[in-house]
Amino acid sequence: MSEQEKQQEKGSCGCGGCGCEQKAKAAATAGVTPAPRRGFMLKLGVGLLGIGGAITALPIVGYLIGPATKRYSNLWVELGELSIFPHGATRFATFLNPIRQPTDGDSAKTACWVRCIDATHFQVFAINCAHLGCPVRWFEQSKLFMCPCHGGVYYQDGTRAAGPPPRGLFEYVWKIEGGKLLIDAGRLPGLEEST
Ligand code: FES
Repeated sequence: MSEQEKQQEKGSCGCGGCGCEQKAKAAATAGVTPAPRRGFMLKLGVGLLGIGGAITALPIVGYLIGPATKRYSNLWVELGELSIFPHGATRFATFLNPIRQPTDGDSAKTACWVRCIDATHFQVFAINCAHLGCPVRWFEQSKLFMCPCHGGVYYQDGTRAAGPPPRGLFEYVWKIEGGKLLIDAGRLPGLEEST
């Protein structure tokens, strides 16, 4: 018998016909996860990934849509008797921020400018400039609000007169009750107001 014939007799692996092919097939079959189990594992993996992704994304989504969904409550605070706001005058006023924390101390005191147009019409301006927030001052002689930081100027009705501010002064919602002027301090005037 030639060497080649001996090799064919032994089989392709050369081990003498011990059944290597069958063993290899059996091993391969044993190593492969059955199809239903593999599908379950895949679904489980995708599910866990989805849960992990949702948990990670929740704070980000909350941060992005929180301001849009936030509801501000009306927190009316008194600015004082109507008699301290003479007709045609603009007066400085302060109130305690109703959203203050115990640690806020004096910083909870908030200032505003009150313009009394007549007995039943007021404008209450946030003290902060609409540019970068510096406190504006009222000048009676010129009847202008002026900002010391970058020269922003506003007319007495709060509209922008000159300088870098992109809009007029922010205003509080006000009402008269029991002979007193109140403002809704629960919602701070800010950029969410229409310009
Ligand atoms: S902060 Fe008032 S003009 Fe800039």
